[in-house]
Amino acid sequence: MKRGGGGRPLRVLVVSGPNLQLLGRREPEIYGHDTLESIHAALAVRAKELDAVVDAHQTNHEGAIVDLIGEAPSAKTDGILLNPGAYTHTSIAIYDALRAVALPAVEVHLSNPDAREAFRRRSRIAPACLGRVAGFGARSYLLAFDGLVSHLRNRDT
Ligand code: DQA
Repeated sequence: MKRGGGGRPLRVLVVSGPNLQLLGRREPEIYGHDTLESIHAALAVRAKELDAVVDAHQTNHEGAIVDLIGEAPSAKTDGILLNPGAYTHTSIAIYDALRAVALPAVEVHLSNPDAREAFRRRSRIAPACLGRVAGFGARSYLLAFDGLVSHLRNRDT
């Protein structure tokens, strides 16, 4: 089975944006009862099963998301899992950062933005992403992670 460069485990940067630190308490009828901490823990378990490692972050600041993406290549990141929260719908800076580093990235959402308010139907970052997983609550992160790892392992075959 292929790994990241140099025979090391695949390294995935996981970034969650504004208000996602409130998961579990924030509109649970929309976002569910799982906390971001429990999602990160589940990702770490899944990563171990798949011989990968996750570097998980949450920030409420657009520029900090841009920084994390920009630093990803020098951190030897193989792929990015990104839930930019509301910045999904507004941030050209995050779109530009994804284009700049050109790492495979998957957009992830707990809810299905397309089934909500009209302003959530436009994703600024989607054109810079490999794919998108949305609408499965906390499981969106795990499904997106599996999809990204599968892509990273199979891209050269
Ligand atoms: C979200 C969807 C966004 O529209 C919203 O602004 C969020 C969360 C989601 O995970 O469902 O903050 O990204």
